[in-house]
Amino acid sequence: MKAAGYGSASGKIILMGEHSVVYGEPAIAFPFQATRITAELEPSVENTLFSDYYSGPLTKVPAHLHNIRQLTEKLQEALRCGRTNLTIHSTIPGERGMGSSAAVAVAITRSYFDYMEQTLTEAELLHYVNFSEKIAHGNPSGIDAAATSGQEPLLFTKGQPFETFDLNINAFLIVADTGVKGRTRETVKEVAHRFQQAPKSTGKLIKNLGLLTQAARQAIIDDQPTVLGQAMNEAHKQLATLGVSNQTLDRLISCARQNGALGAKLTGGGRGGCLIALAADQQTAQEIATALTHQGAHATWIQQLGVVTYA
Ligand code: PMV
Repeated sequence: MKAAGYGSASGKIILMGEHSVVYGEPAIAFPFQATRITAELEPSVENTLFSDYYSGPLTKVPAHLHNIRQLTEKLQEALRCGRTNLTIHSTIPGERGMGSSAAVAVAITRSYFDYMEQTLTEAELLHYVNFSEKIAHGNPSGIDAAATSGQEPLLFTKGQPFETFDLNINAFLIVADTGVKGRTRETVKEVAHRFQQAPKSTGKLIKNLGLLTQAARQAIIDDQPTVLGQAMNEAHKQLATLGVSNQTLDRLISCARQNGALGAKLTGGGRGGCLIALAADQQTAQEIATALTHQGAHATWIQQLGVVTYA
């Protein structure tokens, strides 16, 4: 056992396929290295947590952090580890569709295995992260766990080994935070309810989203930003029909399009959180980011696609 343990993870962005991925359709996601989370452990007489959201005994964490408490207890039992102080630092905005709940679980799991000097396989990591995500989200597809723990873009289909591939497309992605908490748990539940009530029409929307993800993948392989942008626009339409957008997202997405975006859509669970927009060049990307900020976006990030290496 070491004197201290350390683990980290990145945020993630779902490019295409949120919600439909829960029903077995493919999705495309990538680690978003502009945002990161770290977890540090040291021995303690009682289990404590220090973070931006809560600091104090682990037994008294608020309900929205129960995943952290239960994951900690599970890891301590499995690794026969004593009590700890857990300190979390994060630049991943919480509940914004950037996978912060999965990333925190990745970082914590890594920190315990580091502390106890145990090797952590990918399968074990995903097992612990999915355990934590079930508490946080209800019925997670596993895409957040896979994307926040890795280094490369991936094509993810629930229950299947994921495929990594290069985002080799000559374009820029703008990520903008609406400043409103996303409601993944709520929207995932509502889509499930809608599926029960109207299986035919909901199934069609989900199928369409899957087809659009395939079209987006082909556009990336063929380096066709315009085609990718169109697929993003169409995916947003389907997601809005599914009921997971809201006025703020729709307004900012229209703003991105009016300012030259090739396409724009919500990303993640929806009803808040973040949106993404695709631009042909850096100057347009900057103009879009500025326009979104003027329209009330709380933060924006620009990532060049195709040139960035994720190693
Ligand atoms: O809001 P996020 O970043 O946790 O993304 C959720 C993605 C969903 O497809 C809506 C749910 C899931 O578990 O895949």
